[in-house]
Amino acid sequence: MEKIKILAIVGSLRKDSYNRQLALTAKELIGDRAVFNLLEYQDIPLMNQDIEFPTPEAIKRVREEVKSSDGIWFFTPEYNHFFPGVLKNLIDWLSRPINDKEPQVLAGKPAAISGITPAMAGTSLAQDHLVTLISFLNMNVMNVPRLTIPNAMQQLDRDGKLALTASYPYLEKQANAFLGFVTKQRKE
Ligand code: FNR
Repeated sequence: MEKIKILAIVGSLRKDSYNRQLALTAKELIGDRAVFNLLEYQDIPLMNQDIEFPTPEAIKRVREEVKSSDGIWFFTPEYNHFFPGVLKNLIDWLSRPINDKEPQVLAGKPAAISGITPAMAGTSLAQDHLVTLISFLNMNVMNVPRLTIPNAMQQLDRDGKLALTASYPYLEKQANAFLGFVTKQRKE
């Protein structure tokens, strides 16, 4: 059987994003148990129905990456108690049917959600909003466990990189649960 394909979608475009670092830690942790890629989408345009058709090349690319994955793992920051606009823009593009025959690519896909913040609330409000959106789009959300990591600054190494000392076991638990969740759905 082919390896499971996990696609990580990070809700921050920042080069040193803690959420991106969290996604890379998850990739390392999963190792060869799955193919794990990060979706690069900084080049996609803002949703504007005037440019929806013909489909922009960058949109074709991100849709194809989502379509060919077995599960989507979101790593999202919280901006003003919501998830960032760049992520909403990406999901708006992904939510549109490809053509008359093919439905949107998110429907039915297993989804996991994690988030890290330097603040105290751990991105839980952003995650709740994201659950509302992706449930509307009929993704298959793994609600337990979700991972909310507050106080990111307490888990950095001397160079300011995410060491994830305290939260690593929780990330591991979520990764194992998501691999099981995706595998089960692929069999059904
Ligand atoms: C933030 N930040 C933030 N943090 C939080 O926990 N709750 C919030 O509501 C907000 N609001 C907010 C709004 C805007 C516009 C910005 C730019 C930032 C802080 C945010 O968590 C912090 O910058 C993170 O480091 C962003 O995630 P990445 O880029 O490190 O992944």
